[in-house]
Amino acid sequence: ATKLNAAAVAAGKKYFGSATDNNELSDTAYVNILKDGQQFGQITPANSMKWDATEPNRGQFTFTGGDQIANFAKANGQLLRGHNCVWYNQLPGWVTNSGFNSSTLSSVVSTHCGTVVGHYKGQAYAWDVINEAFNDDGTWRSDVFYNTLGQAFVPTAFQAARAADPDAKLYINDYNIEGPGAKANAVSNLVSTLKAQGVPIDGIGVQAHLIVGQLPNLAQQLASFGSLGVEVAITELDIRTTLPASSATLQQQQRDYQTVIAACKGVAGCVGVTVWDYTDKYSWVPNTFSGQGAACPWDQNLQPKPAVQGILNGWA
Ligand code: G3I
Repeated sequence: ATKLNAAAVAAGKKYFGSATDNNELSDTAYVNILKDGQQFGQITPANSMKWDATEPNRGQFTFTGGDQIANFAKANGQLLRGHNCVWYNQLPGWVTNSGFNSSTLSSVVSTHCGTVVGHYKGQAYAWDVINEAFNDDGTWRSDVFYNTLGQAFVPTAFQAARAADPDAKLYINDYNIEGPGAKANAVSNLVSTLKAQGVPIDGIGVQAHLIVGQLPNLAQQLASFGSLGVEVAITELDIRTTLPASSATLQQQQRDYQTVIAACKGVAGCVGVTVWDYTDKYSWVPNTFSGQGAACPWDQNLQPKPAVQGILNGWA
């Protein structure tokens, strides 16, 4: 195969995909690459299914942006990953600042997850139900959900999502869990507990916002997550570097992409890989890490970088 999704499917996986955002869908040259189902078999909305976009005021749901991306995926025969139900970021003030007591917040979480997941019932292959719940040291993140409800917000969200769309695979998703460590252990322990309690969880999403030349041991950690009896996905892959990127750096980046893809290929439970947008033109990285970027497989001008060959090599 010479295209990324076709190569992933040939390797026995469900998809290779990309995140995208609504403002990018008016860029014709960008869309011409994104809509090719042989290249990208799966789409994730980078922003438009988040809480601030879907329930800006309590009980007032808006799906315009999310629907545009869901319809794009459907029109092009691509799987959809929903992103996300419960996250401390991009959360409207009415959730963070209202001082809800535990029973009210529990109902707010349940209504939000149930309504958003339910709106896309039958359209989403998977949902990131819980996003970024842990600190890097493996302790729970101090946010309105944990501080009000303790760990109970997690089963509440998963149960609401399952009831709303019984066919969607329900994930917990986080970063800095690509290799062994305290945070990966915290996720493993939570997933084991949830499964023992009968909470409906199907997968672990490993974001994989990585750095050129500094990969953790993904092969080991993906296998460890898979051994818990859930599926695993690499959900937000990009591999950043200091700008400007030299040709030596781009060669190392090619090897790093290959290593990440080969790690997924080698773990039976790993179902697919999503890049957090396919092109540097729309990468989140330079906005967050000053002086860094060039993290995606295609460059600013929508030209493939050596990383594209690295991905193909990884699936081969
Ligand atoms: O919509 C507003 C617009 O009205 C305003 O004029 C403009 C000015 O800054 O900001 C726009 O909002 C931006 C939003 O993206 C939509 O474009 C925010 O500033 C910007 O912070 C936000 O960034 C997103 C980021 O999540 C927020 O945390 C990125 O696009 C998105 O790629 C990124 O994605 C996250 C995943 O959801 C979770 N994992 C990490 C990943 C990367 O940060």
